[in-house]
Amino acid sequence: GSSRPRVTFLGTGYLGATYAICYAELGYDVLGFDVDADKITKLNAGEVPIHEPGLDELLKRNLAAGRLRFSTDIAETAEHGDVHFICVGTPQRADGMGADLSYVEASVTSLAQHLTRKALIVGKSTVPVGTAEWVEQLVGKHSPADLGVEVAWSPEFLQEGFAVDDVLRPNRIVVGVKSEWANGMLYAAHKGVFDLAATEDREVPLVVTDFATAELVKVAANAFLATKISFINAMAEVCEASGGDVTQLARAIGYDPRIGNRFLQAGLGFGGACLPKDIRAFQARAQELGAGEALRFLHEVDLINLRRRTRVLHLAAELLGRRAGPAGPDLSGTRIAVLGATFKPNTDDVRDAPALAVAALLHKAGADVHVYDPQGVENARRAVPELTYEAGISEAVAGADLVCVLTEWADFRNADPSVLGDLVAGRRVVDARNCLDSALWTQAGWEYRGLGRP
Ligand code: UDX
Repeated sequence: GSSRPRVTFLGTGYLGATYAICYAELGYDVLGFDVDADKITKLNAGEVPIHEPGLDELLKRNLAAGRLRFSTDIAETAEHGDVHFICVGTPQRADGMGADLSYVEASVTSLAQHLTRKALIVGKSTVPVGTAEWVEQLVGKHSPADLGVEVAWSPEFLQEGFAVDDVLRPNRIVVGVKSEWANGMLYAAHKGVFDLAATEDREVPLVVTDFATAELVKVAANAFLATKISFINAMAEVCEASGGDVTQLARAIGYDPRIGNRFLQAGLGFGGACLPKDIRAFQARAQELGAGEALRFLHEVDLINLRRRTRVLHLAAELLGRRAGPAGPDLSGTRIAVLGATFKPNTDDVRDAPALAVAALLHKAGADVHVYDPQGVENARRAVPELTYEAGISEAVAGADLVCVLTEWADFRNADPSVLGDLVAGRRVVDARNCLDSALWTQAGWEYRGLGRP
């Protein structure tokens, strides 16, 4: 309706672009802001800067409908919005642990300086707990004092590949607020769009809380997910030592609804732009707060996750009959096909991708590594140029002594092991995502190894 607040999204990266486009689709009058003129030109021309299913169509439709535009003009942005969402990146700091808040500081400062009426600034970026308070001080310092500009925090929970659906149909909305005005503003912004409720039995549960809790919800959720994955990968290690099968174990414990069967897929572990970076930043922040001990287990979660990568290297060496020296296995003279480079299927994202890390390890050990990924080759080549990239599965596996499936793309799962068997030099396969039908591959004469399986 016309009473709905007008919204802006500052930062048109993965988070901001997705939100801006989806909020226009939900009927809001949206302006997306970025300092990067190239990005803004592309978005206004209907070009999505990221690979996310469904987003392209929504961008074109909402630009045409006049509900959505993008700008590099901060004064125009300040003028447009009743509610401004801060969606800029918070990358890992150069020291490898904490989060770099310089983009948050820059965007909030310039927005605050250009505001001409009362508005609500809502943080969405993933940040260390305490950032909302700091943003509130920044806003107080840089916005005209008489306007009474306020701050709130509302974390997001987007999964790559499902981001459109996650915004259009969130499983909860969390808001951290300090005043009734901010609370009312956010309620007005969401009601009529989402069927809000304070309980689980309605469409979208709304959790209204304080700044610190709202900030913590995001990192706690990601820490839990990372822990669940490392838990099952720790069980995989024990299975490897004892002869158990982690896939059956996961299935069996997952039937307990208190545990649940999701996010219990043992394999090469987690990567991507969020989980690895977030658990490290969370530990660093807890340390600063004097609560470091409480999150010490996240260090183990990280280590378990990273150990899966060296496990694949050693499995490869074992299958190829190579012994590991003090410097690790020597794979020189072998040719290895790596299927998968992205951190999970259905994305082109190779940031902190376990698959690409393993490909690099195999290469470092001397193997001639040929990589194929349905969508990630371009990004992978930029990140790790020293590998050989191929245009298809057949090209990658041709003449290989070993095939390593490192990302569970449907194309790999559906590949015919007999057909591939005729292309390779040796029928050996490491299924690092436990995604192949092991019986089928074994029948086709392959020596098959999964992770955490006998
Ligand atoms: C994640 C969170 O899911 C999302 O809520 C948050 O907002 C951002 O971080 P995303 O990075 O898109 O989303 O990836 P996700 O689908 O969660 O997978 C993360 C990693 O865990 C992938 O590398 C995936 O391969 C791995 N994973 C996931 C497993 O190894 N096993 C599993 O059972 C599930």
